[in-house]
Amino acid sequence: MLNIALPKGRLGDQVYELLSSIGYDCKSIYEQNRKLIFENPKNNVRYLLVKPSDVAIYVEHHAADVGIVGRDILLENRPDVYELLDLGLGKCRMCVAARSGYIEDKDRPLRVATKFVNIAKQYYADQNRDIDIIKLNGSIELAPILGLSDVIVDIVESGNTIRENDLRVIEEFLPISARFIANKTSFKFQNQIIREMVEKLTDAVKEQNI
Ligand code: PRP
Repeated sequence: MLNIALPKGRLGDQVYELLSSIGYDCKSIYEQNRKLIFENPKNNVRYLLVKPSDVAIYVEHHAADVGIVGRDILLENRPDVYELLDLGLGKCRMCVAARSGYIEDKDRPLRVATKFVNIAKQYYADQNRDIDIIKLNGSIELAPILGLSDVIVDIVESGNTIRENDLRVIEEFLPISARFIANKTSFKFQNQIIREMVEKLTDAVKEQNI
């Protein structure tokens, strides 16, 4: 059985549809219940539904053999896994945003609110810009509105959250999309199964023009 860590939510739904279309279906996943594990012994797959930011933890610690995770999480947490394929799904951008009309005071450290502490630190270190990080876990857009920070570093997908909170993007600096990752031991000992999955996924991504 190949254990696949699938991110809960819209990205997970899209990825499941893709995997299902190439022979890794597991119909019971559509059951409306609170189960977190679904398996189909016929095609040897077991899906584990996990929080998107936890996918790489399951894979790194060998609780799952493979998984699907955003590039943002990989860059932020640097898990010790193999990144095998860009699935092209879940496309968005890592951005710096501020209140409309915000003017930066370069004489003092920039206050940056973000979930992505390491990505933000690296981004500003590359520019030799002093910053104070304010780590938040969600609703990041509130920080500049309430004066908690000068800017935010966050993901922008449709841009709706930014727009509806009267913020504006100052800089887009990192394209993000979902990546197919594998545990290093699994990749060694279940190499054929994983390679086959990557090949089929590669073809499907091309065919479906993702
Ligand atoms: C993410 C991100 C932005 C929003 C961007 O938040 O942190 O707030 O999505 O998407 P948009 O450009 O399409 O509006 P998420 O939905 O994960 O919720 P969170 O505030 O709990 O992080």
